[in-house]
Amino acid sequence: MGSFRFWPFPELKTNRLTLKKLVQSDADGIFALRSNPDVIKYTGIKQYTTINEAESYIQKIEHDLECGKCIMWSISITSTEEFIGSICFWNISEDGTCAEIGYDLLPPFHGKGFMQEAIQSVVRYGFEGMELGEIVADLCSENVRSVRLLEKNGFRKNKAHTISNENGDKVGMAVYFLKRTDFKYNIPPNCILHGGCISDFAF
Ligand SMILES: CC(C)(COP(=O)(O)OP(=O)(O)OC[C@H]1O[C@@H](n2cnc3c(N)ncnc32)[C@H](O)[C@@H]1OP(=O)(O)O)[C@@H](O)C(=O)NCCC(=O)NCCS
Repeated sequence: MGSFRFWPFPELKTNRLTLKKLVQSDADGIFALRSNPDVIKYTGIKQYTTINEAESYIQKIEHDLECGKCIMWSISITSTEEFIGSICFWNISEDGTCAEIGYDLLPPFHGKGFMQEAIQSVVRYGFEGMELGEIVADLCSENVRSVRLLEKNGFRKNKAHTISNENGDKVGMAVYFLKRTDFKYNIPPNCILHGGCISDFAF
């Protein structure tokens, strides 16, 4: 089994955003996301009540990054350095050809096209830097903003399935996918990958 080595960490820049390695000083931001009922509503994440939970989570992400099991970027507005959300690849397949994408934004930053910018550069990194063959997203069908974001970026619905949530209620889910071959026609003109990280990527 191969493994990813995310070193040097691939910092990504878009028109308005800087995407960089999630670090302990982002704990307030992660707490703000994961304690907010509107952010976690469709994600199955248990609501955080203390900052310690955010700190432990970041520690786990740092560990998983070292092991090549996941990569998470903090998203901030370049001009103000304000933390606005996160985006990641996780659930990487054993053969390294497929990864799941996940993302969230603080509510004041919804509806401004920020995740659209972030996802374009991360998807491009996934296909060009990690050389993934496919990126998937498994999400609650009712999460219309997320569905719209994926569809705008060429993801297609593969299958619907149902899970039971913590309360035993059935939740409708859908798996969306984007193949590298389809992405070729969708390369955004405004994404810049910084730091020469792609050529340093070892698989
Ligand atoms: C999913 C989520 C990231 C989508 O955020 P979003 O802000 O709707 O996504 P986008 O960045 O694509 O923004 C799109 C909106 O910005 C608007 N917009 C404003 N300025 C824009 C610009 N300069 N460029 C592009 N779009 C712009 C678009 O018109 C669009 O609005 P509309 O949807 O009303 O038509 C957000 O809803 C979220 O964080 N949800 C909670 C966490 C979550 O559910 N995560 C996903 C789990 S699967």
